[in-house]
Amino acid sequence: MAPVKSLLLPAATALLALVAPSTANGRPKESTYYNPIFSGSYPDPSCIFVEEWDDTFFCASSSFNIFPGIPIHASKDLRNWKTISNVLTRHEQLPDLQLTNGSTSGIWAPTIRYHDKTFYVFTTLVHDKMDITDGSRWDNIIFKTKNPFDEESWSTPVHFNFTGYDPSPFWHEDGKVYMSGAHPWQVEPGVYQMVVDLETGETSEKVSLWNGTGGLAPEGSHTFYRDGWYYLLVAEGGTGMDHMVTMARSRDINGPYEPNPDNPILTNANTTEWFQTVGHADLFQDKSGNWWGVALSTRSGPEYRTYPMGRETVMVPVKWERNGWPVFEPVRGEMRGPLPRENRKFAQPDDCPSATKTIDFRKKIPDNFVYWRTPREGTYTVSERGHPNTLSLKPSHLNLTALDGNYAETGQTFIAVRQTDTLFTYSVNVEFEPKEEEEEAGVSVFLSMNHHIDLGIVNLPDKNTSSPTSGSLIPHLRFRAESFPAEEWVVAPQPVIELVPEAWRGKPLTLEIKAINLTHYAFSAGPANSEFRRRTIAYGAGDLVSWGFTGTLIGAYATNNGGEGTTKAYLSNWKYTPQSQFRD
Ligand SMILES: *[C@@H]1O[C@H](CO)[C@@H](O)[C@H](O)[C@H]1NC(C)=O
Ligand SMILES: *[C@@H]1O[C@H](CO)[C@@H](O)[C@H](O)[C@H]1NC(C)=O
Ligand SMILES: *[C@@H]1O[C@H](CO)[C@@H](O)[C@H](O)[C@H]1NC(C)=O
Ligand SMILES: *[C@@H]1O[C@H](CO)[C@@H](O)[C@H](O)[C@H]1NC(C)=O
Ligand SMILES: *[C@@H]1O[C@H](CO)[C@@H](O)[C@H](O)[C@H]1NC(C)=O
Ligand SMILES: *[C@@H]1O[C@H](CO)[C@@H](O)[C@H](O)[C@H]1NC(C)=O
Ligand SMILES: *[C@@H]1O[C@H](CO)[C@@H](O)[C@H](O)[C@H]1NC(C)=O
Repeated sequence: MAPVKSLLLPAATALLALVAPSTANGRPKESTYYNPIFSGSYPDPSCIFVEEWDDTFFCASSSFNIFPGIPIHASKDLRNWKTISNVLTRHEQLPDLQLTNGSTSGIWAPTIRYHDKTFYVFTTLVHDKMDITDGSRWDNIIFKTKNPFDEESWSTPVHFNFTGYDPSPFWHEDGKVYMSGAHPWQVEPGVYQMVVDLETGETSEKVSLWNGTGGLAPEGSHTFYRDGWYYLLVAEGGTGMDHMVTMARSRDINGPYEPNPDNPILTNANTTEWFQTVGHADLFQDKSGNWWGVALSTRSGPEYRTYPMGRETVMVPVKWERNGWPVFEPVRGEMRGPLPRENRKFAQPDDCPSATKTIDFRKKIPDNFVYWRTPREGTYTVSERGHPNTLSLKPSHLNLTALDGNYAETGQTFIAVRQTDTLFTYSVNVEFEPKEEEEEAGVSVFLSMNHHIDLGIVNLPDKNTSSPTSGSLIPHLRFRAESFPAEEWVVAPQPVIELVPEAWRGKPLTLEIKAINLTHYAFSAGPANSEFRRRTIAYGAGDLVSWGFTGTLIGAYATNNGGEGTTKAYLSNWKYTPQSQFRD
């Protein structure tokens, strides 16, 4: 077996230069494209180019507790991308996803590779336990399929034993599959390697490959073979402001590895760029022989305070220098590079994954809708009898915070899309006639179980003693936010609780979330479909939901807040309208 992605022979390079689009001086034609290539919560990208699949690029990214998990993007031209499937779509593939604990648990950093007509995804299900050294925190797994376009065809995983994360395979010509991965930074941090049996998950002894250049948490490793060298690409510095990409190489896959004298080879640390935290890269080569790097980045500027979309996927051109090391272009919003000829086969509608027309829930839930962990059966029903063109939500006992912001085995009723635009307006009509106290349905900007901002319709006793409904249960509008842990500058807003105005009661309401500027969301309510009568109830700051490893979801929930209520909420006219993308 040949090592993955070996160097093109000089003759082949010359031939490709003839077919690649080129300018008069013989250099490939450069075109403009924009970062992020996937906006919204698509961190830890890993990409491949597969000639045998009709010259298609494929990428995988982390999903944490978002379900379906591990989205796969495809493209023919590196500009138009589409989510073609998710690796994790069935509860029985990974029942433990439901049992993870913590705001940064779930699926971390997949690596996608193609070998012998099969697509493999190596990843880790992280049980966010306090004891980092506990092997049971790290469930390392391998999924495969022969057809990534057929979502159902992704396998149940093979599990293998590695006390660490970010596993990445390399098929060696000796016939073995070498897996490199990261140790937790608290215990002997560094990149380690073992041989893994893809069928049984059996592993060999672990070898220490490289401990990086001294940055925190060497991780996100990938191995490439080129010109007689094994190149080890590594992320260091932690996934915040010191994030960077470094490289080392060796003649032997087990080392010793010598560092690139020009490390770090990619970072925006110590710059004033809008794109920060650049790191966790992967490399691939297109049909013309051009190399590309993908990485994660956060659009936050050096202030790094408000970045609700979290870590997104960016792409840069890469050139190998004569000295045998790759040089990455720095990450900017507007980029130029030798892109393949335009091909819109995988263009999203309106070039935006969630820019959809009004969704009327006539037949099915759209493909880009997501949940927090596996949805419970019978919770979300399209066009229930007597409620055509609606999505009914059966309330969960747990609210979005659940009991402790950590653990939610019995599940939460919440359906959402990723926030993919700096500015957007989301609105949905909610028909909800609560009967019990604390029954609630509403909309949320949701980052994690302990970072969310909500506006709900909730049944509460009327506390106004001079009101005719004093003491009885009346629908209220309740705005509140949860944000713990948080940075010291985060100020939790005062909850707002007010009666639903009498004229609005007993009718569907429109609830709206609008990202009005770089720092704030406006939460509004009004009678359904009457923009004129809609009014802003409160503002929520984006820094409340700028934390950890994930990005915000925008959607609707229903809960009885630990009570007994079973009243359903009916959603209709769901609309997410992108308004603006800040790239500089
Ligand atoms: C969740 O984590 C907390 C500590 O963060 C721990 O006390 C609790 O036992 C954990 N629960 C489970 C089910 O692992
Ligand atoms: C996993 O490997 C560790 C040592 O690396 C060992 O202590 C442990 O018993 C192994 N667990 C399983 C389930 O094989
Ligand atoms: C990396 O550090 C560990 C100690 O944390 C050490 O045992 C190992 O030899 C180092 N590896 C290399 C390749 O230097
Ligand atoms: C950024 O600057 C700090 C302080 O000068 C330095 O320690 C760090 O290495 C720099 N990081 C990078 C990636 O250049
Ligand atoms: C209480 O109810 C009375 C009578 O409906 C109304 O005039 C008054 O504004 C209410 N007070 C508050 C604080 O809502
Ligand atoms: C965004 O709007 C909010 C609410 O009006 C305001 O408090 C905040 O200062 C604005 N932020 C910026 C950056 O303009
Ligand atoms: C969530 O529900 C629990 C009871 O199950 C309640 O104590 C808590 O206040 C609720 N929190 C939020 C933010 O809704």
